[in-house]
Amino acid sequence: MGIPLFDPLAVLAPLRDQLHAAVDGVLERGQFVLGDEVAAFEDELAAYLGVRHAVGVANGTDAITIALQALGVGPGDEVVVPAFTFYASAEAIPPTGARPVFCDVEPDTLCVSAATVRAALTGHTKAVVAVHLFGNVAPVAEIEALGVPVVEDTAQALGSLSAGGARAGGLGMVSTHSFFPSKNLGAFGDAGAIATNDAAIADTVRALRFHGSRDKLRHDYVGWNSRLDELQAAILRVQLPHLDDWCARRRTVARWYAEAGIEGLARPPVAAPGSHPAWHLYVVRRPGADDLCAALAAGGIEARGYYRTPLHRQPAMAPYAAGAHLPVTDEAAHTNLALPMGAWLDAGHVREVVDAMRTATDR
Ligand SMILES: Cc1ncc(COP(=O)(O)O)c(C=O)c1O
Repeated sequence: MGIPLFDPLAVLAPLRDQLHAAVDGVLERGQFVLGDEVAAFEDELAAYLGVRHAVGVANGTDAITIALQALGVGPGDEVVVPAFTFYASAEAIPPTGARPVFCDVEPDTLCVSAATVRAALTGHTKAVVAVHLFGNVAPVAEIEALGVPVVEDTAQALGSLSAGGARAGGLGMVSTHSFFPSKNLGAFGDAGAIATNDAAIADTVRALRFHGSRDKLRHDYVGWNSRLDELQAAILRVQLPHLDDWCARRRTVARWYAEAGIEGLARPPVAAPGSHPAWHLYVVRRPGADDLCAALAAGGIEARGYYRTPLHRQPAMAPYAAGAHLPVTDEAAHTNLALPMGAWLDAGHVREVVDAMRTATDR
């Protein structure tokens, strides 16, 4: 493939020596799960986000389940979640005992808003999972003003800045993070975190990630085995100081797409008003997106349609989706196409992608 959608190795190449040293350090200490590296990474992530507490967990899906439980979500409750997102945003809800209730997204930002969430609220709503989709920033304060706590699903938006300058993941009651290798900050396997300003939530989360226990003796909750490895934490600590530079480059790549004339070829992504997204995915929309994807692939350019079957149409979500009418989700699901995005791209790559799109759409 001439230009892949992601290329995590390209940005990591200059850090190889540091990464090897970090792995060696873990091997020398011989502590592999929930040790000093995890504690240091938790502090550094909290400082980066501008919140008081961060707690490492095994992945971004567990992070959502555990964060919801720490908010007291359980059987009989409803949790509002967009239908246009990765499946895990909703899949994480039933393990709490609560029901997902699907809402739509805004046509420009593809994120939830106070209006789309309000349409899904009932007397049973206990929380909202607000997804910062593709790196865009959902309006967390406006949603919390509806009177429901928000879990910010920040899996795709670490490094994005809201209109007020605060970081996505530091805007609501609690946020969840994924460090899956393709994310803006990627581990060498699965890893995740939960962040909050609330000491009680952080304390509950710490217990829930470790079998519901605070001291390995007494078990206060039926929790999870969802711990973060030392190796992953050490690897993430090497990368975190570079994240803002990588995010700045992602924004520059988005600007290059605009300068190369993407707007004449497809509907480009729209940043939430005043925000500075660290575009995790650069997702355009256009009818016939799959044909365009095939034409790009023939020229060695990788693109991908995301969430073609949105969550309210997924078989496993049928018990929760009766009567859901989500027109923006359905439109975005059919027309979206993610183009190559990452800190490793240069202006020449972007021009090549846009030229290939121009040729493909002229036919
Ligand atoms: C929006 C969103 N939420 C949750 C997750 C789940 O994260 P993980 O794969 O680390 O479980 C992902 C990504 O994989 C995601 O993109």
